[in-house]
Amino acid sequence: MSDQDAAKARRRRAHMKVMLWSLLVIALGAMVAPLGGYVYVEVAQAQSGFENGNPRSDTWGAVREGVSGTTTVQGPEAGVLIQNGGQNWRQLRNAIAAGVMPWFMAAALIGIALVMAIFGRNRLDQPPSGKVVPRWKLWERVLHWTTATLFIVLAITGLSLLFGRAVLIPVLGAGGFAAYAGFAMTLHNYVGPVFTACVAIMILAWVRHNIPSRADWEWFKAGGGFLKGKHPPAGRMNGGEKVWFWFIALVGGLVCATGVVLDFPIWGQTRETMQLASLVHAIAAILWVSLFFGHAWIGTLGTEGAIDGMTTGYSSSEWAKQHHDLWYEQVKDQEVDASEVGLTAGKAAKTPSEGTSPG
Ligand code: HEM
Repeated sequence: MSDQDAAKARRRRAHMKVMLWSLLVIALGAMVAPLGGYVYVEVAQAQSGFENGNPRSDTWGAVREGVSGTTTVQGPEAGVLIQNGGQNWRQLRNAIAAGVMPWFMAAALIGIALVMAIFGRNRLDQPPSGKVVPRWKLWERVLHWTTATLFIVLAITGLSLLFGRAVLIPVLGAGGFAAYAGFAMTLHNYVGPVFTACVAIMILAWVRHNIPSRADWEWFKAGGGFLKGKHPPAGRMNGGEKVWFWFIALVGGLVCATGVVLDFPIWGQTRETMQLASLVHAIAAILWVSLFFGHAWIGTLGTEGAIDGMTTGYSSSEWAKQHHDLWYEQVKDQEVDASEVGLTAGKAAKTPSEGTSPG
């Protein structure tokens, strides 16, 4: 090999070496360079003083976990941006209040339909003779019908807030429902305290008629007359009416109390208190509506002559003897002729000769 060829071969080997080393350096560089980011973050963190994680994500993580921050706004929990109990509240509200409770209302309506189909209307055994006894005073009737009207307004508006999404949006559309829901909620919020006052007066006024007695026990044992077909003895209020009264006092009282807590968030209620109040309010209110169906049915279609006392103030002596015999014995000396007290409405105002049949 000439000297020239030997020099060429050396240069080629040298090029080869340079090329291989260059490839090695590029490959190593490609692997190591991205790690520089870590070094940068470490340096940046060290400079900024935040050495444990990203401060922004830490802050929002804490907000999400309900940790209280600092604010100039006054009030309980004002520093808590997100309260996690809201998720549990929403799930319980949708599952129990909106999901399970409607079945109680449906069961009440089905129960009424069954009783109606099996036993029919509870009719008067004797046709009204025209004699009546005083049952409810004017102020009591005004109180009862005012309370009943407000109850119905509250039931309709309250139920439309609970089921509006599912039931009313398909009918009214989202915009129509939003407008109605705003109106319904305002009405509900204003009517609630007036209704609460009516219920409180009602309880105070009628508690003396509803003290449980031995006769109530006998009344229940006879199934209120349904089971044995014979009317069990009863005083001014029978066992069933007393159950309705004490249900109003206890469960109704709970609905009213939780309603006041929700209506006036000015006593330092926390969000947890409001969530609990809202659940108890909705569940107890639906129970109340369910029982109300029974009360309204018994007072109207279910029992012949029952409505007279609450509309005219007087009940026919026949109704009084049949349904409240012990009470009739106490008031029979106040018995008068329907015409004497100017009655033109009600069962007793229409004597058999005017076409009222016993049934
Ligand atoms: C449209 C619905 C209603 C009808 C048709 C109705 C009917 C009646 C009738 C006829 C009576 C008299 C029963 C008797 O003389 O023995 C009565 C009593 C009574 N009603 Fe109603 N009512 C209605 C709504 C309500 C509501 C919403 C409440 C309560 C929130 C209520 C609470 C009472 C109470 C406490 C009594 C007396 C029972 C007792 O003291 O034990 N009613 N109702």
